[in-house]
Amino acid sequence: MIITCDSCKTRYKVADDIINKPTFKVRCHKCNYRFIIHKNDPLDDSFLLQDEVSADDHRIIALSNQKGGVAKTTTCLNLAVSLAHMGKKVLVVDFDVQANLTILLGFRQTRSFYELLNKEVKGINDIILHTKYPNLSLLPSNSKMALLKKRYLTQHNFEYLLRNRLQEIEKKYDHILIDTPPSIEFFTLNALIAAKLVIVPTTCEYLSIHGVSQISDIIKVLKGIDHDIEYKVLITMFDARKTSEKVIYEKIRHKYGAMVCKTVIEIDDKMQESHIVNLPILYYDEKSKSAGQYQDLALEITE
Ligand SMILES: Nc1ncnc2c1ncn2[C@@H]1O[C@H](COP(=O)(O)OP(=O)(O)OP(=O)(O)O)[C@@H](O)[C@H]1O
Ligand SMILES: [Mg+2]
Repeated sequence: MIITCDSCKTRYKVADDIINKPTFKVRCHKCNYRFIIHKNDPLDDSFLLQDEVSADDHRIIALSNQKGGVAKTTTCLNLAVSLAHMGKKVLVVDFDVQANLTILLGFRQTRSFYELLNKEVKGINDIILHTKYPNLSLLPSNSKMALLKKRYLTQHNFEYLLRNRLQEIEKKYDHILIDTPPSIEFFTLNALIAAKLVIVPTTCEYLSIHGVSQISDIIKVLKGIDHDIEYKVLITMFDARKTSEKVIYEKIRHKYGAMVCKTVIEIDDKMQESHIVNLPILYYDEKSKSAGQYQDLALEITE
């Protein structure tokens, strides 16, 4: 998990199994500040945080949850636009046959990762498109992507295809965000292997906790085979007027503690309007609640 110093905001990586007490006293290696992590009971001595999060840890981010309609694509687009707006160079990868991200960015009938693997183009740069938004590029999807699943799923090491291709270009970008489909198979496994951080968007509905625990279980398995990967749970479309949502929100916070993003994305009609006109929320209504919240999320990811 990632812990941010309350004083100097330095971020550290800490193994999940160390934090098995209700509250956990820690000390920042950089500024010596001591503070408490709320997870489980206090230790006698404060734990010295040393392993700082590097720029590489948050370079490749997958947006994933096998539950459908929880704002994976919305978050991928709007977080990417917010990061790009801050001056970061960003690539979004549409790794979903639905191609919703490609469509939201105004493209249709593009080439995709399929053409790259099928050797119809020379290299990955030939399929990357520059969007109309500054600092934001897209590796698009198309319907042929569906064929990849069939062709490669039984092949040895199929889950490394995306990671291997991104290695050629990853240093050109500050962040690469990968949108995934609502299922855990070829595309999602490739995204999880390529990423160092997984953001798990979830709504506060009854089945949501189940969806989050499924993805966190897979991440534990990946960590078990020495894959350096962290995850953060992002509450989306939160409706504070509903008691049921508040109850589930508290359950998620209790279960995932510091792994839950501080930023909460609330339900916002403006977001739905922005999708109708194919605009990221920041370009549709900069002053809207959700535009501000996605900018807060971008700061939280990079702080
Ligand atoms: N903050 C928000 N307020 C209101 N509506 C939202 C918000 N975020 C997303 N939505 C709406 O929720 C719906 C689902 O969003 P989205 O397509 O991003 O989910 P998804 O998880 O990518 O879905 P899928 O699993 O099908 O890929 C869309 O209609 C979108 O407009
Ligand atoms: Mg989607």
